[in-house]
Amino acid sequence: MAAEAKANAPTIPEMPPLTRREFLNYAWLASLGFVFLVGVGGATYFFAFPRFKTGEFGGLFPLGKAGDVLPGPDDPPKHDTAGKFWLSNVNGAIVALYDVCVHLGCLYEWQTVSGRFECPCHGSKYTKDGKYVEGPAPRSLDRMVVEFQNGNQTIASTNAKGEPVNTPTDSNAQVVINTGKIIPGESHG
Ligand code: FES
Repeated sequence: MAAEAKANAPTIPEMPPLTRREFLNYAWLASLGFVFLVGVGGATYFFAFPRFKTGEFGGLFPLGKAGDVLPGPDDPPKHDTAGKFWLSNVNGAIVALYDVCVHLGCLYEWQTVSGRFECPCHGSKYTKDGKYVEGPAPRSLDRMVVEFQNGNQTIASTNAKGEPVNTPTDSNAQVVINTGKIIPGESHG
């Protein structure tokens, strides 16, 4: 009986041995798959986790409540040296200016007497909202993105042109500067 069952069992065809060329082809395909998986994994990690920490230049700078941290329309601009920006209030709207001169990279300063940002290196001057006035600088100052947030919601933010954004009516709105988004200043031709 057992011998009969054994005789009726389906026979599994024997696989011919792999040639050297086939083996190398399979190994090559497997290595391609590995490289692909590492690439996809790396890209996922890169985009899932921000490269810059909060409070580190290149990342987000949460400053606090609008009522506590924003300069008023008559106040001089505030310098944040860690975030590398100046925060200016121009007629009730806020702009964040990257603190590096767009000529050759010196650090400009606010001059209360002239009411201008002035660069000590070659004399470029800019208005309170960063517009080019005079000197060798090729354009207005670069800007960063200002966000006003309520909880997890952004209620207002700088647009793609970098225009000043109106001070929020809610003085408890949180002010966040995104130092990783730099909008180049307008060229003056
Ligand atoms: S670096 Fe500012 S004017 Fe030259």
